[in-house]
Amino acid sequence: MEIINQLQPGPDGRAAVYTKIIKGIEMEHPKEATVLVVGGGGRCHAIVDALSRSPQVGKIYCAPGNAGIAAQAECVPFKETQVEQLRDFASERGVDLTVVGPEVALAAGIVDVFTAAGLRIFGPSKAAAVIESSKDFAKRLMAKYNVPTAAYRTFEDYDEALEYVRNGSFPVVLKYDGLAAGKGVVIPETFEEAEHTLKDMLLDDKFGKGKVVVEEFLTGPEFSFMCFVDGERVYPMALSQDHKRAYEGDKGPNTGGMGAYSPLPFITREDKEYAMEHIMKPVASAMVKEGRPFKGVLYGGLMKTPSGIKVIEFNCRFGDPETEVVLPLLKSDIYDIFCAVADGTPMPEIKWESKSSMGFVMASEGYPGPYGKGHVIEGLENALSDPDVRIYHMGTAEKDGKIITAGGRVLMVIGSGDTLKSAHDKALEAVQKIKCDNLFYRRDIGWRVL
Ligand code: AMP
Ligand code: GLY
Repeated sequence: MEIINQLQPGPDGRAAVYTKIIKGIEMEHPKEATVLVVGGGGRCHAIVDALSRSPQVGKIYCAPGNAGIAAQAECVPFKETQVEQLRDFASERGVDLTVVGPEVALAAGIVDVFTAAGLRIFGPSKAAAVIESSKDFAKRLMAKYNVPTAAYRTFEDYDEALEYVRNGSFPVVLKYDGLAAGKGVVIPETFEEAEHTLKDMLLDDKFGKGKVVVEEFLTGPEFSFMCFVDGERVYPMALSQDHKRAYEGDKGPNTGGMGAYSPLPFITREDKEYAMEHIMKPVASAMVKEGRPFKGVLYGGLMKTPSGIKVIEFNCRFGDPETEVVLPLLKSDIYDIFCAVADGTPMPEIKWESKSSMGFVMASEGYPGPYGKGHVIEGLENALSDPDVRIYHMGTAEKDGKIITAGGRVLMVIGSGDTLKSAHDKALEAVQKIKCDNLFYRRDIGWRVL
């Protein structure tokens, strides 16, 4: 009997179809898709975990991944910014879909490079990723299209910026106009502090060479609104909230995020509708009009101020650590969603669990300042004994069969439950089972809603 195997692209951007021709009898059955996830933190662990729940996905690669991701994907040692090497890898291994986590890869043009090689990839082009990589671009876009945000002015000149700040009110918000790993925003309370920061940003180039956006200080609860976006098409995810300050009581320096939860009881259905109609959809459509159509996850960092919902920032990718609490609530097959956006094909209905999710970040002592690495972590299995608990690795490595710390933020422990309180209790119980002599966490994640 003669058997010929043929690999063909599947209809509607679904997994490739494996056609077996046995002496003229054609049998079709779906080939399990091979996916590459670019990135290595907790966000990518959550993406890998969501993909591994898809019945369509077979092999998952993650570049570079980490010790936790290695349990669910084959980690390959590329840096996120080695875009040409990643393209060659994807093409050699027959990767059906690549999903990009971090902004550095997007700003490095990974999507353009993959697209030029005919490879399917989920994420915005370099031209669209500027919505995050340049705060000045984002502010000009919002001004042009009447999207509600804080009043601002952009400066290149130190003396002019200083003069403007001298005549303004405090606190004032100073934003470095470029990627700064969540550390490019300083909110001085006094003129002297502002002078110091402007000097760092404009004279000494401590963040790199770039402009400074000086912004009006807004007040109110912040929240993260992530949407899957394909040009004009915008599909909302569950809302979430991050905790940016390092210590309890929202004290201490800004971090990449110390915990998160979803959903948000203080944001009403009307608020979400407003944010969708006046912020997310108009911005997606503005990007099309500007010749920079956005594909991927558009992240609105929004604030519910006394005068309405306003934009604090946009990101061009999944939020971290918001993704770690949001994706566990996704009921639909994420592979279908990624492919629908990447291919511009019809989006299936996106369904969410009506559950709550809350996560605690365990970070190295000293973070976000200097910290040590290589401390052994124990108790992970024990913490995972509750089926409502997930642990996503943010910065870990493996050494001699043991998991060790390898980053500032190390683990995120997520609980899910019928209420935010039960999600909180499950996550906190699990966190307490994890033993390491160099990790700290905030016990007050979710204080606003508990
Ligand atoms: P960003 O990196 O733009 O998200 O800013 C970091 C943090 O600075 C935000 O999460 C806010 O807490 C704060 N922030 C930024 N812009 C403003 C603003 N205009 N008013 C008040 N707080 C702000
Ligand atoms: N959680 C904030 C961010 O992803 O930028």
